[in-house]
Amino acid sequence: MRKPFIVANWKMNMLVEDSVQYGEDLVEKLKRENVDLKKVDVAICVPYIHMAALKVIFVLRNICVGAQNMHYEQSGAYTGEISPAMLSDMGIECCIIGHSERRQHFNETSEACAKKIKAAVMGNIRPILCVGETLNERESGRYKDAVADMLKTSLENITEAEILKTVIAYEPLWAIGTGKTATSKQANEMAAFVRSVIAEKYGKDIADQVIIQYGGSVKPDNIKEIMSMSDIDGVLVGGASLKVDDFVKIVNFDPEIVGKTE
Ligand code: PGA
Repeated sequence: MRKPFIVANWKMNMLVEDSVQYGEDLVEKLKRENVDLKKVDVAICVPYIHMAALKVIFVLRNICVGAQNMHYEQSGAYTGEISPAMLSDMGIECCIIGHSERRQHFNETSEACAKKIKAAVMGNIRPILCVGETLNERESGRYKDAVADMLKTSLENITEAEILKTVIAYEPLWAIGTGKTATSKQANEMAAFVRSVIAEKYGKDIADQVIIQYGGSVKPDNIKEIMSMSDIDGVLVGGASLKVDDFVKIVNFDPEIVGKTE
């Protein structure tokens, strides 16, 4: 049984005061709405400066605090970077790896992602590997090849034990921050395709246990449909995660619908 995993990606947003307010509101609103956090895993991936305060606010609340990037070395002469050892020391539970914005603006490669996944798992941090095609690749029909290439390189040398701890987020670039969501059918087709690429390498039993998320303009009004799809186990939410009310509505999707639509 794959447990639904809903992740907020704040990107480069919020000042300290806003993040504290958000954290407190989130705890209160999830409680008020009676959201059962045993049925769904929730993580908020934030800029490093917000982590300490949120760890305190979420203590004993079953809400994880995550990072949006990390280095693969544990320490050393890497000015401006943060290491997996530093994140696990703070109790950070997950880390987004290879987000398309990092690939696009900071030259993050799939080779580096493979090293980061290994380092994250070693530090007991759940890696969330992002893969997805550009609009060009979608329109030219090469989108499956593009996603398969990214996946294969990012999972190079990743063992069975490591892939079982890794989450894959399928995020088509043309749907990120554009308000244009992939149809639930397109998203499910690609989640199933990602699972089949994992199955080719690790076998079906293992692939069936891997959590696969969809990301790209997820909102309160499309969460139910997305979460009802057979191969989608969670979502990675950017813009709509910045408003507590919207994010609570997303977390509060009806868990009974999971996997009902082929
Ligand atoms: P979006 O971002 O929800 O604003 O489209 C998703 C993401 O970049 O992870």
